[in-house]
Parts: sequence; C-alpha cells; structure tokens
Amino acid sequence: MEIKKSQRDFGDVLVSVGRFLKAAAEEILSGIINNRVPASASYLGLVIAVILYARADTWAASFFTTKYHLPEGLRVFLTYASIFSGWILWGVRRAADRNRLLNKLKEAFQAASLKCNGRYPSLIEDLKIDNHVRRLRLHCHGVTKTDFENAVERLESVLNMTVIRLLQDEGDKSKIEIIYTMKDMQKTVILENPDAFADGQIPIGMTYEGPIHVNMRNVGHILVAGQTGGGKSNFLKVVTTVLTRNNPEAKVIFLDFKGGMETADIRNHAKNLGDNIECFDGTKKCIEELGRIGMALEERFKTLSAVGASNFDDYLKKKIAKAGPRKITDRPEDERRTYIIVDEIAQLYAKDPEVEKERQDRAKAAVNRIARQGRAAGVHLVVATQKPDAQSFDQTVKTNLPAVLCFPMPNQASSVSAIGTKRAFEINPNIQGRAVWKFGPKLEEVQTYLFT
Ligand SMILES: Nc1ncnc2c1ncn2[C@@H]1O[C@H](COP(=O)(O)OP(=O)(O)OP(=O)(O)O)[C@@H](O)[C@H]1O
Ligand SMILES: [Mg+2]
Repeated sequence: MEIKKSQRDFGDVLVSVGRFLKAAAEEILSGIINNRVPASASYLGLVIAVILYARADTWAASFFTTKYHLPEGLRVFLTYASIFSGWILWGVRRAADRNRLLNKLKEAFQAASLKCNGRYPSLIEDLKIDNHVRRLRLHCHGVTKTDFENAVERLESVLNMTVIRLLQDEGDKSKIEIIYTMKDMQKTVILENPDAFADGQIPIGMTYEGPIHVNMRNVGHILVAGQTGGGKSNFLKVVTTVLTRNNPEAKVIFLDFKGGMETADIRNHAKNLGDNIECFDGTKKCIEELGRIGMALEERFKTLSAVGASNFDDYLKKKIAKAGPRKITDRPEDERRTYIIVDEIAQLYAKDPEVEKERQDRAKAAVNRIARQGRAAGVHLVVATQKPDAQSFDQTVKTNLPAVLCFPMPNQASSVSAIGTKRAFEINPNIQGRAVWKFGPKLEEVQTYLFT
C-alpha cells in the first residue's frame, strides 16, 4: 500500500516536471518566433562557449594545476549548452513566472467566483506594455465581461494590482483583455510651483516615475488630442498660465475657436498674469488673429534672413547687439518668442458660412507655415482637437507636430491615428486628466495637472 502511494507521488512529480519542461520549451519557441528573448540573455553563455572553444580554461588552469582535464565529448556538450543556455534559462524563468501567475489567477478567480459551468477563465498571455502597465489576455470560457466588471475589486485585492481597463472585442466574446498595473498613479495632481519654470519650459504631468517637464524650444510644437471630457482644455490652460508667468519677454496668444468657458477662465487668471497674454474666442476672431499672425511671421522671416540669422536666438543676439539693451516691454513683436495655444482647432477646417473663405484659407496657411517653419523663427504651437484625422485636421500640420499628448480615445483606430499605437485606448477613460505623452520613440502614461 505504502509503496503504491509513493509510486503515485513519484508519478505526479514526474508529470509536473514534464509539464513544466513543456511550458519552458513553449516559452523558448514563442520567444524565438516572436523575437522576445532579449539579446542580453545570451551574452554570458556565449562568453563561456568562446572560452571552452578556445580552450582558454585549460590554459588558465595550467597555471594552478596540471591535473585539469576536460574530456573532449563533455567539452563539445558544454560548448553547445553554453551557446543555448541564455535561451534555456530565459524560458525556464518565464515558465516559472507563468506557473506562479497561473496559481495566483486560479486563487483570484476562485475568490471572485468567476466561473461558468465549473470552468474558470484560462490564461492566454501576460505581456508588458511598458515598465508599469501589462496586458493579461484570457479565454473567458463563458464568463462574461459584466462578470469581470463586477469582480474587479476582488481581483485587484487578491492579485494586488489595479485594473486600468477591461477590453473585449465586439466580434469575439470568448476572450478578454485586462490592462493592469502593479503601481498606482495619483488621480489628481496640482502643480505646486507654477512660477518656477525656466524660459520655454512647461509641465506635462506626473508619470509612474515622476514629473515630466519639457522645453518648447526643444519640442517645437505640441498636438493635444482625445475624446471629449478627457482634459485637453484643462491642459492648455495650465500651459498658457505657466508660459505667461515665466516668459515675460515672450508673447502668449490663446485662441479658443469654440469661445466657451476657457477664455473666461484664462482671463480670470490673466488679471494676475501680466500683459504678455492675449485671448481670442469664437471662430471669426480666431481666424482673423491667425491671419494677422501669418503676416507677422512673413515679416519675421524677412528680417531673419536680412540679418543672416540661422534661428530666432541667433537673430535676437544679432539684433540686440546692434540696438543695445532694451526693456522687455519695449521690444517690437519680431523680437518676442511667440506661443500660440489653440483650442478646438477642428473649427478652422470646418465649413462656416459666417467666415469668408479667403480669410479662412489665410488662417489655415498660417497654421501650416508655423508648424513647418515657426520653430526656427521662435513661434510655437500647442493645438487641441478631438480627432486629428484627415477630415478635421491638416495632415501636414499633424506631421510637423513632433510631440503628442493624447487623452483617452474612443477606439483603437482613433488612438492609432493620433499616436501610432492603441495605447490611448488602453488608458482609463474614467480618470479625468489621464493621457499618454509621446515625444520621440517613448510613450508614457501621465496624469496632467489640474488647472486651479
Ligand atoms: N488633469 C485633470 N485633473 C483632474 N480633473 C481634470 C483634469 N483635466 C480635466 N479635468 C476635469 O475634466 C473636465 C473636462 O476637462 P476638459 O474640459 O479639459 O476636457 P476636454 O478634453 O477639453 O473636452 P472637450 O473636448 O469636450 O472640450 C474638467 O471640467 C475638469 O473638471
Ligand atoms: Mg475642451
């Protein structure tokens, strides 16, 4: 009886080991096929393989002892094992992680009673989206999205994570994606010191790793996109205030095409902001102002090339050297860096019977020129629109806005159109002010500052 039981136990252990090795082999295979195995995993193994192949071990050992001898067969085996050891260890580690995750998931699904016909959801994959956010894909086995939504709190507590979004393809109810993070981000952040920014510097928001501040001189222009209620206008107001307060020598122009509450909010603040800000609202006034800015830009380009300046700073240096120092307020417009902040820019591209087509075309051309050449002339754009697609936005302007702050998007396609990935569809749309910041190859989730 005793012998039979221990035989059965031994059999179970063998089955478990077999399963584990199979899982490790699958991980290695899928890692190689999908190019997920990091190159660094193989470095040590390759170094050891070279040592064995070059017989450097025998040479080194001969300094200390004469008895060292590695049989030829074993040497060949160890050389090959070393070459592949990085992949093997990587696969074993991944299989162990997966095993741990499977056990935790089983515990969580049991605790949340997430089952249908006696079956719990099963793991497809658990992949990293960025350093803090992951995507867990599951086979539902009959468990509905609503069941998952009702079980979120229990899952969060057992798995010690925060669910960001539950996503299910309308056409495929057999699978579900849980976007989650192990580290929480603040839901509301207030800018502590709006007066302590360097020239041209603006705050973007708080990421999982701390605040992001960028300088408009490096970034050039910014596109702000995202569905209604995300926090675009709020962000523009923060940026406008910071630029106005910290750049007395510059000019800040805030244009609100819809002419809603935003200019009123800015004007309330503007009382304490100084005289380097101008606000315009309503399509007609904004279009007129853009036309004027376009003409001023034309002049600025002419004077820049007349003095042979390569960029705005060079121009200022040359001109100030000639004219001598002057009070900031006495400087003519062409000596002032200009920040143009535009809310609801889609209105510029929509048909409006109240606006003369010629004026509208002039304003569109001005925005287009600023996006292409404004940076060198010290003119910067921050423009907001819900959808920066070809129907409602000039695509040449879009390609010339190197930085994008994208608030939640209603579907994958609109996220891809704005930032090139579905990341803006994977942020929690219920957290106001949450967005994705894209500048260069890096994408970061941020909580933008609340305008106060
Ligand atoms: N960073 C933030 N932190 C906290 N709450 C915010 C933040 N940004 C926006 N909100 C809240 O969300 C609401 C909507 O924000 P906002 O008006 O900026 O959205 P929007 O993207 O401009 O929308 P629309 O496209 O409809 O103009 C604001 O009234 C504000 O209360
Ligand atoms: Mg708005």
